[in-house]
Amino acid sequence: MIAYGAGTAAIEVVPTGFALGAEIRGIDARKPVPPETAKTLREAWKQHLVLLFRGQTGLTDQQLITFTQVFGPLQAAPNSDVTAGFGSFADVPPEVAVISNIKVDGRPIGALGAGEADWHTDMSFIEEPPAGSCLYAIEVPASGGNTSFINMHRALDTLDEEMADAVNGVQCVHDLSLTSTGSRRQGVAEVADVRETPGARHPVLRTHPDTKRKALFLGRRRNAWLVGFEVEDSERLLDCLWAHATDEAHVWEHRWREGDIVLWDNRAVMHRRDAFDPATRRLMHRTQVKGGRPR
Ligand code: SIN
Repeated sequence: MIAYGAGTAAIEVVPTGFALGAEIRGIDARKPVPPETAKTLREAWKQHLVLLFRGQTGLTDQQLITFTQVFGPLQAAPNSDVTAGFGSFADVPPEVAVISNIKVDGRPIGALGAGEADWHTDMSFIEEPPAGSCLYAIEVPASGGNTSFINMHRALDTLDEEMADAVNGVQCVHDLSLTSTGSRRQGVAEVADVRETPGARHPVLRTHPDTKRKALFLGRRRNAWLVGFEVEDSERLLDCLWAHATDEAHVWEHRWREGDIVLWDNRAVMHRRDAFDPATRRLMHRTQVKGGRPR
């Protein structure tokens, strides 16, 4: 544990003890974050990739937005874009995506339902995916719905050299047609041949723009294709990369409590979510820190 800022604004950074993630203690996200503390938080984010802030119950959307801005300007949520699979009729600001299984009058108020969400990086199917995502737990079920994270720097650092060489300079297609729970986005045809998968093409090895550390960037497995490869070779190599990246040694799993805020770095982290009982309620609001083109 490291404590910063002797006196009134002291915060503690408590690493999870796993491959990534740290809990930050001493922050009230409802209040403005002083500049020195903001700097410490940004440094902690660079180092730990996922930050957990407990006990933030009662946060308004505007407070969540202001808090997320500590880490950079925001990117609009894909709520209004039905092709993004996040269509919601919930009354939220444009920066907020609603992730929930709750239905009102038979209509879902948010995205992703109660099913398992596969490993993915948020919105990696667009040209400039968000640098970070900040997920705020308003209602959580008693069990299930845990979210796990992978340190993709570590996944690359421990990758077999031959495999790293094989994907150096290679681009991968990040499928736009399916959400992370596997449902097809409206108006997008089913993918019959991965060489025709719709979605952005990004380098498999990317460099974090702030830390200059390299990371594996896999984004999403379904319908992925290593551009220019024979389909069979692409599948084989992708399977190997995914098996390695998702090794437990690279993972930290978070069990949610109401009032948790979890902020992760999409440039160096993948995440997945467990399914949960659809008869229970889970309501999360998510903001996105603006990103750039992965390089
Ligand atoms: C997400 O993929 O952004 C949502 C993860 C979750 O529901 O825990």
